[in-house]
Amino acid sequence: MTPELVDLFAFLRFPSVSTDSRHASDTRACAQWLIEKLSGMELTAKLHETPKHPIVIARNAHVEGRTTVMIYGHYDVQPVDPLNLWDRQPFEPEIRDGRIWARGATDNKGQMLAHILGVEKMLKEEGELPVNLIFLFEGEEEIGSPNLGPFLEAHKDELKCDVIAISDTGMAAPATPTLGYGLRGISCAEVILRGAKGDLHSGLFGGAVANPATAVAQLVASLHDLDGKVTVEGFYDKVREMEPWEREMAANTPGTADEDFLNVTGAPSLFGEQGYTAAERVWARPTLEINGIGGGYQGEGSKTVLPAEAMAKFSCRLVPDQDPDEIFEKLKTHLEKHCPKGVSMEILKEHGGKPYLADPQSGFGLCAQRALKAAFNKQPVLIREGGSIPIVQTFSDILGADTLLLGLALADAQIHAPNENFPVENFEAGIRLNQALLKELANPAN
Ligand code: BES
Ligand code: MN
Repeated sequence: MTPELVDLFAFLRFPSVSTDSRHASDTRACAQWLIEKLSGMELTAKLHETPKHPIVIARNAHVEGRTTVMIYGHYDVQPVDPLNLWDRQPFEPEIRDGRIWARGATDNKGQMLAHILGVEKMLKEEGELPVNLIFLFEGEEEIGSPNLGPFLEAHKDELKCDVIAISDTGMAAPATPTLGYGLRGISCAEVILRGAKGDLHSGLFGGAVANPATAVAQLVASLHDLDGKVTVEGFYDKVREMEPWEREMAANTPGTADEDFLNVTGAPSLFGEQGYTAAERVWARPTLEINGIGGGYQGEGSKTVLPAEAMAKFSCRLVPDQDPDEIFEKLKTHLEKHCPKGVSMEILKEHGGKPYLADPQSGFGLCAQRALKAAFNKQPVLIREGGSIPIVQTFSDILGADTLLLGLALADAQIHAPNENFPVENFEAGIRLNQALLKELANPAN
């Protein structure tokens, strides 16, 4: 195994699941491993405490007049459940069929480490970097980056930079260099409906008091029309339509045809708002998804019970110029107005993040395109993303810098799902890409 893969395997072995407090010490150990790796490369590395998981910052000696580049990544991962659907243990990485299999292989440890190793290689081969570098790694991206915004605000002078680079998004198709120029935002919520003071016999009491499970189903059903359009009042008020060049480009980008969506998902047919292709729906239309719904007996056989409580969890994906707080308020108003009779309702606001949209033809955007071309020996494609990295718009708001999304994640990488994987080829390309990128960003006017 190459030394690069040895490093990646070590990084992947930490179960740094940020949402699960039982993994808090594993998450910290993972941050500590990064500190050691970065210090060993003669960067100044520092671990910053937050109310939850630490932030890792590393930098070279900055030289006046050079471009200051921030490279961001996240070392936390999503939970592994359902564990029984994995073909191997999620934190015991293995290579099979040219891919590295482990939780975090693509999202985001493999992509993030490629940048670290690109820098390491460049320092070894050339003695120094052509840019002022700031590595910023957090352990809370998968829980909405609750502490990174305040950290940026408190450290904005030290973190001042000209441009930010992230590899934590998609690659349109295998071996296709891809520059992302947009991300959807997000707004999450949960609703709990309560009926009787405890579970009841459904024969003795059913029909006399409301059933919260029925009520939650009615409430959820009120949120969309039959084409999947969201019926929350004012939901689409601030939605910006795609530019004609984007629609034209989307139609010609590999990996973004309706057929590709059918193949990757295995769904019996596509579904969604009329008048848009699958890629357009994902890139530039907002959604309201039910991420979980529950209440009552879910075990084997039947149980005649009238549950006391039922719940649903929601996440809205947002596009420019929607605002996560405003969308939450609109959803709340809708839920209150449509709350069925006979139950009480509690609405919880969860994390949120703004959408992001940049100009892929800006000076730094063109640097990224040249670097992608150099690393893959192929003309890059441009895409918007359906996923979210909530901190990206916050970077722009607080640090005033744009972010280059240099995606290496394949559509079948199974991120957030069992059997997450990352092609060795993409890992190696990421290392080359980092080196090409730093060279291009050093001379942005080329
Ligand atoms: N890396 C993903 C986002 C992503 C993946 C964007 C592929 C585009 C293509 C990121 O780690 C992620 O999963 N973000 C969460 C954010 C949320 C928890 C606040 C998401 O999008 O669900
Ligand atoms: Mn993720």
